[in-house]
Amino acid sequence: MSEGAHDTLIAGPAKRSLSGEVIVPGDKSISHRAMILASLAGGISEIHGFLPGEDNLATLHMFEQMGIRMEWLNEAKTDLRIHGAELYGLKQPQSVLDAGNSGTCARLMTGVLAGQPFTSTVTGDASLRTRPMRRVTEPLRRMGAHIEGHDGGNLLPLSIDGGSLKGIHHVSKVASAQVKSCILLAGLYAEGETRVREPKPSRDHTERMLPLFGQPLNILDDVSISLNPMGELTAPNHPIHIPADPSSAAFFAVAAGIVDGSEISMNGIGINPRRDGWRRILGDMGAAISVENESAVGEEPVADISVCHGAMNGIRVNPNDIADAIDEFPILFVAAALSDGEFILEEAEELRVKESDRIAAMATALSACGAAVQEQACGLRIQGCGQLTGGVTIDARGDHRIAMAMAVAAQRATDEITIQHAAAIATSFPDFVPLAQAMGMNMRWAA
Ligand code: S3P
Repeated sequence: MSEGAHDTLIAGPAKRSLSGEVIVPGDKSISHRAMILASLAGGISEIHGFLPGEDNLATLHMFEQMGIRMEWLNEAKTDLRIHGAELYGLKQPQSVLDAGNSGTCARLMTGVLAGQPFTSTVTGDASLRTRPMRRVTEPLRRMGAHIEGHDGGNLLPLSIDGGSLKGIHHVSKVASAQVKSCILLAGLYAEGETRVREPKPSRDHTERMLPLFGQPLNILDDVSISLNPMGELTAPNHPIHIPADPSSAAFFAVAAGIVDGSEISMNGIGINPRRDGWRRILGDMGAAISVENESAVGEEPVADISVCHGAMNGIRVNPNDIADAIDEFPILFVAAALSDGEFILEEAEELRVKESDRIAAMATALSACGAAVQEQACGLRIQGCGQLTGGVTIDARGDHRIAMAMAVAAQRATDEITIQHAAAIATSFPDFVPLAQAMGMNMRWAA
């Protein structure tokens, strides 16, 4: 948390219905991919609609430490010119590389660093230093990288002695785009073919973007992919546009869904099927969501989404939707707590190793607000109720999505909810509070 930053958010209840068009910022995952590939490409790339959140800035700073020149093209820091170094042009960093709170930064950059002919060290904040890294260090070691870290290479900080990689066929135990992307990035530096197979499909932004940089991929089936490295990436001769982040849009969608008389719209939101689980789940719950003007931004499908207030009902979540909604469960739990009937989520153990243990964090926070929540090893059962109880203080545990989810939940509470350790909102959505206030949500940072 930077000095002087706000950390306690006081939210709710909503004093009016929510309305208007919300301008949702750029997608965090796609911003990461664009920046990484542009840095490793030959030539100059321009990125428009970049998300300047702390997570992405951590990755950007790592590349600056390795000699990449980044040029902001506007004051809002959403347009960026990157002077790529080519695959083998990165310089050895003179100090430790800090991924901050970002799992995507840590895991994808570990893949990049595994390919470099120098030694580097990657660390992160207190939360990230508890998150599992073996899922990437084990396959990278098999590719030939020498990686040391706490708990046998499972925890940051990691010391990575890269170079001389060979392709592997990796069968991942988790459906994780971070694992898949890490190995594909290392595969750019490997001799021979690299294959990744997952138990269920995960977000495919890396696969969609690599061909734009001249690196084709072979999609073997919906869970298997193969890369034969071309030996170079080339900057595209047109700007890369980043669509609006569906994970950020989901907070406003649920807010409109739960506050009486609300009606909001959001344009150009990513509707990639691997990110669209939140919309399918809210749709199954009966939410009044409409989708219009489907088009594309680069290789990514987008659409205009509007949401009206309306009754929702509990459901048993389809396990096939889980990976596609993995980041949206905190806010979906809020919708569930304010629906009719029971909401059941199973097979979602990955939620325990996100920026916080999101099953425990949301069960504790919603229970404190009077919701009937039953925590289970791999999921949660929530019995919906008409309103939450305010006048309580909850702990967002330094997790951006817990903080934002509870700020939305507070709009339907009897009284204010105080959300501690909420500064991490800036990791993915620095403008969340002003945008939420502009659409009518009641929230403010504590002085
Ligand atoms: C991300 C993948 C997901 C997601 C994270 C971003 C990415 O993590 O939760 O917020 O950009 O690849 P996993 O790959 O660990 O599921």
